[in-house]
Amino acid sequence: MHGFSYKNASLFCDDVDLAPLAAEHGTPLYVYSATTILDHYRRLDAALAGVDHEVAYAVKANSNLSVLRLLANEGAGFDIVSGGELFRVIKAGGDPAHCTFAGVGKTREEIVYALEQGIYSFNVESEEELRYLNEVAGELGVIAPAAVRVNPNVDAKTHKYISTGKSENKFGVDFEAIPSLYERAAKELPHIKLRGLQMHIGSQLTSIAPFIEAVEKVAPLAKQLKEKHSIEFWSIGGGIGIIYQESLASGTIDWWENQPEQERPLTIEQYGREIVPRLKNLGLRILLEPGRFIVGNAGVLLTRCLYEKKGRAKTFKIVDAGMNDLIRPALYEGHHEIVPLKQPQSNERVAVDVVGPICESGDFFCQNRELPDFQPGDFIALMSAGAYGFVMASNYNSRPLPAEILVEGDAATVIRKRQSLEDLIEGEL
Ligand code: LLP
Repeated sequence: MHGFSYKNASLFCDDVDLAPLAAEHGTPLYVYSATTILDHYRRLDAALAGVDHEVAYAVKANSNLSVLRLLANEGAGFDIVSGGELFRVIKAGGDPAHCTFAGVGKTREEIVYALEQGIYSFNVESEEELRYLNEVAGELGVIAPAAVRVNPNVDAKTHKYISTGKSENKFGVDFEAIPSLYERAAKELPHIKLRGLQMHIGSQLTSIAPFIEAVEKVAPLAKQLKEKHSIEFWSIGGGIGIIYQESLASGTIDWWENQPEQERPLTIEQYGREIVPRLKNLGLRILLEPGRFIVGNAGVLLTRCLYEKKGRAKTFKIVDAGMNDLIRPALYEGHHEIVPLKQPQSNERVAVDVVGPICESGDFFCQNRELPDFQPGDFIALMSAGAYGFVMASNYNSRPLPAEILVEGDAATVIRKRQSLEDLIEGEL
């Protein structure tokens, strides 16, 4: 589910009317539904009920402290990729002992910080990194818990920039090289405790097949490592895709909930049904690292139309959000539904490009899309912007970062203030 729907022709996030919210706080404005975030977390947790597991939320998807706090209170673990993300998790009340640390380029400072904080596991991406981790742990006189990321060479069939499980990607260690690496590590690296195995084949997967392929390929390896090296966990990564494209014809924006299951791309219940039986008898703790599934459909970016520019070839709707606020369309040709906050009276549609104010031709949210004919002054919502939205925003063109709001029932709380012009130059000489 998600918490966005029209009530009396106004778009609501749960019990909060979004147009007055946008008017009060200004645009561009990120708005998240706490109910939706919690619903997704709980449904995923329930889908995995048949196996000993932990959901380690991928902080990179949305790292606002209030979002992290919400999930920490639910008992989530966290998958982090930097010292900065660990700092955020700790500030939000998360437990470092439930954090896994991924990424191909961990620095000495990050490793020391994570060792001091006592994280659950370093998810190591190369033999070189494992040796360096051993060295740093040795200097500190501690043992570093580690899992190696296996690259299973499985095609995730997603956008090339977010596919990670093929041999040509920079991630992980070749499937075939894993057993000998664990042997060497056990013999030669006294400051490493091999605690698990990790994999992640890509992001925004909308079919179950690549997940099944990867799990079936790697399960015997996980079993072997458990027998030989007593590993205790296997993280099967994140990557569960969400629906970005919705039919607005009916005037609702949650139609997929009503679709027959076989016509939906991938549901979390299907994921649980297919994956759990394949993991059940391994005797390993299963970790999951979902980011987008938890927060993607739980957030929107609100923006106001500034101008309508009728060019010779096209009509442009120019809005006050730009690619610096939401870069997914520019970077991955990502599709975000665009809906007016006031539901249009007629079903009439016009073909338009919705573009931002940034001085780049790639600064668009859609091209030649049939949309309701909203006008300057009107607010619109870019849907499904809760994951990889604000976290990828930048100050490009010296634009202050937008504010973020968390809705809980009928309460809307500012969880990050809009940046001021003074904020833009803080730290500069
Ligand atoms: N675990 C690892 C090791 C990852 O690299 C990622 C995402 C995740 C978990 C979480 O994946 P998710 O469940 O969110 O698919 N900025 C891109 C997505 C980049 C994903 C990077 N890694 C986008 O906007 O589509």
